[in-house]
Amino acid sequence: MKRDLLALRDLSPAQLADILSSAAKLKADWKAGQRGPLLPGRTLAMLFQKPSLRTRTSFDLGMYQLGGYAVYLSPDEVQLGKRESTADVARVLSRYADAIMARVFAHSDLEDLARWASVPVINGLSDLAHPCQGIADLLTIQEKMGTLRGVHLTYLGDGNNVLHSLLIGGALAGMHVTAACPAGYGPQDQVVAEAITLAAASGGSITLTTDPLEGARAAEVLYTDTWTSMGQEAEAEARRQIFPAYQINDALLAQAPLVQGVMHCLPAHRGEEITDSVADGERSWLFDQAENRLHGQKAVLVYLLEG
Ligand code: CP
Ligand code: NVA
Repeated sequence: MKRDLLALRDLSPAQLADILSSAAKLKADWKAGQRGPLLPGRTLAMLFQKPSLRTRTSFDLGMYQLGGYAVYLSPDEVQLGKRESTADVARVLSRYADAIMARVFAHSDLEDLARWASVPVINGLSDLAHPCQGIADLLTIQEKMGTLRGVHLTYLGDGNNVLHSLLIGGALAGMHVTAACPAGYGPQDQVVAEAITLAAASGGSITLTTDPLEGARAAEVLYTDTWTSMGQEAEAEARRQIFPAYQINDALLAQAPLVQGVMHCLPAHRGEEITDSVADGERSWLFDQAENRLHGQKAVLVYLLEG
């Protein structure tokens, strides 16, 4: 039966660990100049309803590095569900490509694609989850800290798709994940409940608070993302009034003595959720994360197509 990656909950702890070690090996091999193609002649259709720098480029070049080929389909070209139905798009693309990667607004569109496609479907970001980002983030933490188990990560800001994937991924990996979000802007209850269940089994933990300093004090890794995700632009000004206490800046870092690294999935809104001094500072892991999208996704492609 074909496998999809719509959210990190699709993976068991062992499958996630295998993908992370495969990604680390692919990265080391690539850097050592060992570039034997693992997916020769295989193809990926990439369907975008929203803009992208990292996801598009890293999937496209990652597929090329594996010996395959990727084709980019812009929001205007496909108009999922408008020009033609999601079910028809899924069935047509399945006749051309070995896998489909899609960036959508509604997570239900991905579920529809996966239901109708006969090839694996990969979530390249939805309103619910960003699992490929989560895999790159865990790979980065594992590289920097030497382990994931027991590492304390605190996310500050909006309870969005990126946080959802960190909660589930961190819980699967035995991490202690704290989310500090303003009241009314926390992660979805169902995602939190799933993460708590997974953390109970892995020896990790999930903590929710509205106090950014409480979250920061115990953190070894701090993480933030935009206060206004794609599709929420009409709320941007209102959100700018609500979120400033959750900014990662030098004053907050001074209250977080254990922090070894600061993370952000990018694109950053410098001066809003993160300052230049932190994003460009000694403890910034921002560009290591971006780099790891490439290798994490190559591991996902190999897992789905060859695993
Ligand atoms: N982090 C991330 O997914 O970036 P893009 O929106 O540029 O793909
Ligand atoms: N939460 C952000 C992530 C962008 C990569 C968004 O959905 O726009």
